[in-house]
Amino acid sequence: MKITLQSLVVALLIASLPIAGRAQKSATVRAIESHERKALFPSMDTINLGRDVAESACAGCHGMDGISDALGKPNLAGQRTVYIYRVLQAYQAGVRADEANHHKKFLNDEALLSVAVYYASLTPAQAPVVAVDPQATDVVTDEDPFENIRASMKKCIKCHDETGNSDGSGMPSLTGQDPIYFVNSMQAYIDGSRSHKLMKKLVGRLDATTIKDMGVYYAVQEPLQSSTQGQGDVNVGRRLSEDCKSCHGEDGNAKKSKMPTLAGQDAKYFIKAMKHYKDGKRQHEKMFEAVEGFSEQDMIDLATYYAAQQPRRRDVRTPLKSTEWIARCGFCHGVDGNSSDPRFPMLAGQDETYLRKALNAYATGKRDNSTMYAMADPLSPRDIERIGAFFAAQQPKAVVYMQLPCEDDAK
Ligand code: HEC
Ligand code: HEC
Ligand code: HEC
Ligand code: HEC
Repeated sequence: MKITLQSLVVALLIASLPIAGRAQKSATVRAIESHERKALFPSMDTINLGRDVAESACAGCHGMDGISDALGKPNLAGQRTVYIYRVLQAYQAGVRADEANHHKKFLNDEALLSVAVYYASLTPAQAPVVAVDPQATDVVTDEDPFENIRASMKKCIKCHDETGNSDGSGMPSLTGQDPIYFVNSMQAYIDGSRSHKLMKKLVGRLDATTIKDMGVYYAVQEPLQSSTQGQGDVNVGRRLSEDCKSCHGEDGNAKKSKMPTLAGQDAKYFIKAMKHYKDGKRQHEKMFEAVEGFSEQDMIDLATYYAAQQPRRRDVRTPLKSTEWIARCGFCHGVDGNSSDPRFPMLAGQDETYLRKALNAYATGKRDNSTMYAMADPLSPRDIERIGAFFAAQQPKAVVYMQLPCEDDAK
């Protein structure tokens, strides 16, 4: 490809994009620009030029048919034009880093646009291109997002109830707590800063991911006040609670992730916890300082006050089922991943390994895109696996953009 003055100017313009792009993190996807419209209704000349570019610069890896021949390599055939074009610009500007495969500032703008048009004009692959799990599409149906922890939770239900709003007197309520506090408190039984033989034995059988997911499960349940209210004086308790607010919140609803919520907590458990902090059975420096000067009656009054407060749910997002995620992806990527907007990539029939790699790249920020970061960040590894399998198994469909008469013409 010859390097023209025009390509140099374009390259300079593009080179300044990453800074602008990063400054406005919440930017929505740019409107289609007038020179990009050419890609939607291409002439035969443009397609032919694109074929030449593909032959000399791309076919070695992507083939002339744009169909992936290796795991992790994307299909380009039938991919949406404006998307391909913008990806190529991003490669050239180094915004999407891929030194190994795509050279920077190599092709001029016309070449980029026409090669995008060429690959977009090709017939998409038959799905699935590479062997995907034949059950992938069944697996993705309405699965309970907490499926993986249900078996381990069976043991907890006996004492902490189905929802974590424990019934029995002396049982701590697990709702209204932040997942981080939950994980820390579970860990404390293992490291010995809290002693409870049975809890230690139970926690010892669980792996870190299960514990983390359990924390999320309890955090998204609706918290209820404990059924064991205290026998003390609420007003005295309220006065004593002044010193607790900075950590445990105004009315015992803690805001910080490491601080437990005390609102609605079981009074008997509360008193026991206070005593254990005081006598060192439960080791925690800050809490030791907080309870050191308290009499047993003070503890009862505090427990009574907190048990009577209304606990509130923490600000934790309820995990979605795979089907719910897929419906969200459809807003931009079209039904079954067949995007009808030329700016949004088609996901249908895309190489499964590549899809997973792309989602992980967005989640870790390796591929810089604020929209996709927001979508990919909350996905668990399991979500990524299932969503990738689902889209890879869908039949990709090419789109034909039609020039409709504009409103003025119609009048
Ligand atoms: C040396 C091999 C190689 C060459 C040459 C090459 N590519 Fe790629 N291309 C790749 C690989 C590998 C990826 C996947 C990168 C990733 O995982 O992000 C890729 C990714 C892409 C993507 C991103 C696809 C998507 O869905 O986001 C586009 C578009 C693309 N290439 C177009 C081209 C075009 C057009 C050319 C020729 C101008 C070209 N490539 C040349 C190997 C190559
Ligand atoms: C036999 C009854 C019993 C079972 C079964 C049980 N727990 Fe507990 N759990 C308790 C008691 C009692 C405490 C309070 C122990 C203490 O004083 O530290 C507790 C404390 C906790 C705490 C600390 C609460 C806080 O506010 O700091 C968490 C978290 C917890 N349990 C989670 C679980 C999970 C998850 C399971 C299932 C794997 C489970 N428990 C099974 C009785 C039980
Ligand atoms: C400097 C911050 C701080 C202050 C002030 C503080 N706490 Fe705490 N409190 C904590 C932390 C952190 C924990 C969790 C410690 C642990 O893991 O055992 C905790 C735990 C507790 C627990 C156990 C909760 C459970 O679910 O197991 C009770 C009860 C409690 N605090 C009551 C109080 C009361 C009452 C006061 C005021 C007199 C108070 N705290 C003041 C930080 C504080
Ligand atoms: C608000 C619009 C929007 C939503 C919703 C959305 N995406 Fe995207 N997605 C985009 C845009 C824009 C891009 C192109 C970003 C870029 O250039 O890197 C993209 C790119 C991708 C890519 C990379 C495609 C490729 O060929 O490299 C994958 C994979 C992807 N999205 C998956 C998903 C999944 C899965 C969901 C649902 C969980 C989702 N997206 C939801 C807008 C969206």
